[in-house]
Amino acid sequence: MDSFGHIIDGAERESADGASMSSIDPYLREAWAEVAEGGTAEAALAVTAARRAFDEGPWPRMGFAERGAALHRLAGLIDENAAELAMADTRDMGKPITAAMTWDLPRTAQTFRFFADHARLATAETYPMDSGHHGYSRYEPAGVVAAIAPWNYPLMLESSKVAPALAWGNTVVLKPAETTPVSATMLGRLALEAGIPPGVVNVVHGYGPMSAGAALTEDPRVDRISFTGESTTGRVITAAAARNLTPVSLELGGKGANIVFADADLDAAVSWSIKGIYTNAGQVCLAGSRLYVERPILDDFLKRFVGAAEELVTGDPKDPATELGPVASAEHHRKVSRYLRECPGTVLTGGGGEGWLIRPTVIADVAADAAIQRDEVFGPVVTVTPFDSEAEVVRAANDTRYGLSALLFTENLSRAHRVARRLRAGTIWVNCFLVRDLRAPFGGFADSGWGREGGEFSREFYTEPKFVAMTVPELPS
Ligand code: NAI
Ligand code: MG
Repeated sequence: MDSFGHIIDGAERESADGASMSSIDPYLREAWAEVAEGGTAEAALAVTAARRAFDEGPWPRMGFAERGAALHRLAGLIDENAAELAMADTRDMGKPITAAMTWDLPRTAQTFRFFADHARLATAETYPMDSGHHGYSRYEPAGVVAAIAPWNYPLMLESSKVAPALAWGNTVVLKPAETTPVSATMLGRLALEAGIPPGVVNVVHGYGPMSAGAALTEDPRVDRISFTGESTTGRVITAAAARNLTPVSLELGGKGANIVFADADLDAAVSWSIKGIYTNAGQVCLAGSRLYVERPILDDFLKRFVGAAEELVTGDPKDPATELGPVASAEHHRKVSRYLRECPGTVLTGGGGEGWLIRPTVIADVAADAAIQRDEVFGPVVTVTPFDSEAEVVRAANDTRYGLSALLFTENLSRAHRVARRLRAGTIWVNCFLVRDLRAPFGGFADSGWGREGGEFSREFYTEPKFVAMTVPELPS
């Protein structure tokens, strides 16, 4: 079995006490890799390395062109090693290999390229001042960034933190989720191969509470904490960060509404809505997990939607034909299964399958206050509710503690803009799903998070803006 270590100060290493953990392949339900299990000690060592690389090393002092070139080399290495990186995420969490190869991997490389160029091409402000003064802004790197990542898009979401942090001259300690550790070690190895100096990209494996994750959030030498995961965890991390006044960026859960109006292009609405909930077996914070369909088309839509759900190819995620694999872990399978067991509605299709597979599931007749309608289930499970008016569906869509994303389908231009404006969520997709632009703000309202990622928004988080004011004396007359 292959084994994977931490990456600390430019070297791959075991934990001081030799502890390790197995990574479980959720399709075979057996260990496929052995990974070092770090704790407080490894987190502290990694922060020490990142601190030294930031305070004394070349990385923060390099020009944008030189740093950007290193990130472009890393993107090239990600492309060259795409098959192996994709297979690591597939074995770690059951993501279909075709999805990993066509989505996660290209986006990971693109993220490094984008932020390398974005930082290099960014401008800053000058402030024309009266009375013989001149002022301008500078965006200084913030320092040591702790990046704590989830397991649903392991490499891709880790990169969405690491790339902007590095491009702006920070050093990083990355803690991947304990269930999906392997691709993070591979990324750390590739960063060294790309010529990124030792201590700039550190990877620490281990659990969150009372372990490596918590230690990172409590370390006063950390300057920024970027977290993606469950809202409850976000609260715990924010409380820990508050003691050191460490700024936190949070990308948390979602319970996205997907609204299909009677005037929608039905074929397109069905096909996007299927992607909206069954992509990555529904383990997507942006999923459209509450489907609202205007009553006149309810029967027709549901017939097509259920048919399309039943046609999805389920099974071995290593098979290129597979569209939906098992959910990511035993723990997560228990969680999704419990929601299905306790759900009060009518199951139109789906339910449990072989092993940790949950078949594409559609549930009707669920009350607005049922747990499955209010909580982030994070599985291939959608609830369907009919509606009769625009005002009614906007109210229903906004009746959630989350606010990450929403989808709407209509061919009526005014309605599209009107409803997009009224929905309380950070991303609104009109007649599409998962269309992203790395310049645009990405993040959530309410319990879905704090702050935004993307372009200028990432710069705001990963830098300390500075104002320089100077006297410009007049020539004596
Ligand atoms: P989680 O939010 O607990 O874990 C995410 C990351 O945070 C992992 O790297 C974990 O080790 C770390 N972590 C956990 N507690 C921490 C602490 N006290 N201090 C520092 N780091 C900590 O999510 P988990 O346990 O993997 O999954 C639980 C549920 O959360 C899932 O069943 C799913 O429903 C939901 N989830 C939602 C995600 C989203 O993007 N909306 C992503 C992952 C999970
Ligand atoms: Mg947890």
